Amino acid sequence: SYEEMEQSVKEIKEKYGNRLYIPGHHYQKDEVVQFADVTGDSLQLAQAAAENRDAEYIVFCGVHFMAETADMLTANHQKVILPDMRAGCSMADMADIDQTDRAWEKLQQLFGDTIIPLTYVNSTAAIKAFVGKNGGATVTSSNAKKMLQWAFTQKERILFLPDQHLGRNTAYDLGVPLDKMAIWNPITNKLEYDGNIEDIIVILWKGHCSVHENFTVANIEHLRKTEPDMKILVHPECSREVVEHSDYAGSTKYIIDMIEAAEPGSKWAIGTEMNLVNRLIQNNQDKKIVSLNPYMCPCLTMNRIDLPHLLWALESLENEELSNQIIVPDHITKDAVLALNRMLDNV
Ligand code: 13P
Ligand code: SF4
Repeated sequence: SYEEMEQSVKEIKEKYGNRLYIPGHHYQKDEVVQFADVTGDSLQLAQAAAENRDAEYIVFCGVHFMAETADMLTANHQKVILPDMRAGCSMADMADIDQTDRAWEKLQQLFGDTIIPLTYVNSTAAIKAFVGKNGGATVTSSNAKKMLQWAFTQKERILFLPDQHLGRNTAYDLGVPLDKMAIWNPITNKLEYDGNIEDIIVILWKGHCSVHENFTVANIEHLRKTEPDMKILVHPECSREVVEHSDYAGSTKYIIDMIEAAEPGSKWAIGTEMNLVNRLIQNNQDKKIVSLNPYMCPCLTMNRIDLPHLLWALESLENEELSNQIIVPDHITKDAVLALNRMLDNV
């Protein structure tokens, strides 16, 4: 039963003590988050992984790219385990390394040495290595602005992977006009741009988050009519139009901080992942909180980590099987860590 599974997880955690560390992303289910030693957004979890030197086993409750990052930032003797290998990220899958190498070759022909690559941490270790090797850095939603500013101190142009929306929203906030942003289409291996290519400042990889794209301007217009005093707060993985029509946009951490600091009685519609919105609703019962999209959007791959998978991963430690260990090859780690450290040193 569910209770028996909870009891078994508790017992294994007690038995292992500091030898076991369970980071949990804010988008994870409550049944998993209750056992997390640290919860956070992707930046906080990357930092927590980098700082932990005690745990022998890191059972990562999040998605594959986060577990890869944890493996790259922890010491060699520390083993990172993902409770379900199917917990991927559709956005990270939208940029593969062969497409990226092809794109880079073409962009070098078009722009010479004027571009620096940046990648959202929601990307594979191989993409991070590509970025690190070419002088760039990773970014998360909470430091994207700072990292784009840093990138512009290095080069005139930025290639931003793999989320076009975070790239566009952040560049726009920094004053880059929309008509100076082009799209890189990895399927056609072509730039999508109407004007003179000399004018391009930011090249946005044509990727997106399948969860955050479910929030629409129509959702906002509906709420403006039915709940005119409700504030709308969205994640910058939402489209430019959605961000423009909202009252506030910011990272997972920004959303949580904003709601926690809000006045009792205030009303909020939130455009981000469903498990997090539900947790904000539960933890802030003095405020009226709804999902911006009434047909709430879970991240299906985040949801693959559930109590049975967590328990299975912990039991496999007990049997010394080490199932689902995430091991990033050394040659990839070496370059990817350059990109990660350029971010961690800047924030
Ligand atoms: P953050 O945790 O950086 O806000 O990222 C959101 C997300 O989509 C994680 O997959
Ligand atoms: Fe990937 Fe979006 Fe899920 Fe985050 S919410 S893991 S970006 S698909």
